[in-house]
Amino acid sequence: MRRLVIVSNRVADPSRGGASGGLAVSILDALRRRGGMWFGWNGEIVADEAEIVPACVKHDNCTLMTMPLTERDYREYYLGFSNEVLWPVHHYRLDLAHFTLEAAEGYRRVNARFAEKLSPIIHRSDLIWVHDYHLIPLGAGLRARGVGNEIGFFFHIPFPPPEVLSATPEHEWLMSSLLEYDLVGFQTTSDQANFCRFACDFMGGEMTAPDTLRVAGKSLKASVFPVGIDVESLVAMAQSPEADERVQRTRRQAEPGLTVIGVDRLDYSKGLPEKFRAFRRLLEMCPDKCKPASLIQIASPTRDDLEAYIDIRHELETLSGAINGQFGDFDWTPVRYIHRAVERDRLAALYRGSKIGLVTPLRDWMNLVAKEYVAALDEADPGVLILSRFAGAAEDL
Ligand code: G6P
Repeated sequence: MRRLVIVSNRVADPSRGGASGGLAVSILDALRRRGGMWFGWNGEIVADEAEIVPACVKHDNCTLMTMPLTERDYREYYLGFSNEVLWPVHHYRLDLAHFTLEAAEGYRRVNARFAEKLSPIIHRSDLIWVHDYHLIPLGAGLRARGVGNEIGFFFHIPFPPPEVLSATPEHEWLMSSLLEYDLVGFQTTSDQANFCRFACDFMGGEMTAPDTLRVAGKSLKASVFPVGIDVESLVAMAQSPEADERVQRTRRQAEPGLTVIGVDRLDYSKGLPEKFRAFRRLLEMCPDKCKPASLIQIASPTRDDLEAYIDIRHELETLSGAINGQFGDFDWTPVRYIHRAVERDRLAALYRGSKIGLVTPLRDWMNLVAKEYVAALDEADPGVLILSRFAGAAEDL
């Protein structure tokens, strides 16, 4: 079998079960099955570029090859261009995009470094699979260094309509970089359609088959691959004896009401303040029926060096305090807001013990929580998933 080489900005630590967001969890699940190499950032920051040396660790059939970023890379490539330009634009939030030339320069620099460190260790038969918005120009960087292998790229995040994308400085360069891949993958048909519309209407390309494009003398495939979950491992976690105990505890605490569960990274795309306000509205509209429903919202910390993320954290703290102050009682806390990451096995039990799974992003990639909630439920006594139409999972499920 050909060696699979996966490249992404974030690399999960398999010994910690990969609690670093949906991308890392889904890649880890795929890599465990097939084996291969995973190349990316080790999450560490160093002062000087001279300290950037890739390090290699083996975990069963997977080899992790990771390296640090410099303080400047972190600021310009990761926070700046990736998370203050590409992330908001791809989530249709032009109002939050903040562009600087230094950030764009940092993005080019780090992508070129990834290509420079990776190209010498590629074998001719390797299959290369690049993930997510941090690394859009990596394929072009590898090609420029003579890598002729098949290279695929996968967008974990939404792909916006051309009218939104074209508000991003550098969008033409980003789009032409994507043409260097043999295959570009998307979560949903609307993401794929937005990409193809850009290629055809703004770059003079044409569709030569339903998922094949010819643009600027290049031919590539643009296809839909909705990300799934490892159902077996999730069911095993949700049905374990420890999970039984946790489910009983959750149900006892909620008695005679019901538990509503939400699990998200604390990101503005997840619609958390809107979710809290909707819950408050429900309590206002039917106080008797809703007492004692509790919303357990786990909001794991993320990108907390960026202002938009600091703001949303404050907003949630204020809202949960206000709702509990207004509606809570000696024996009832309407909103239980937990600002930290929770292990997957505990989540599986929480899903199973909760009568409602509330997944209400304003714009989201696939959203694996929606799928995990459904997979964890008791068939004999299932709960209900309330799912925003703006998550990829809505199309997929
Ligand atoms: C989303 C993105 C991933 C990212 C993850 C966690 O799922 O699609 O690329 O790794 O969020 O965010 P972080 O900034 O901590 O890597």
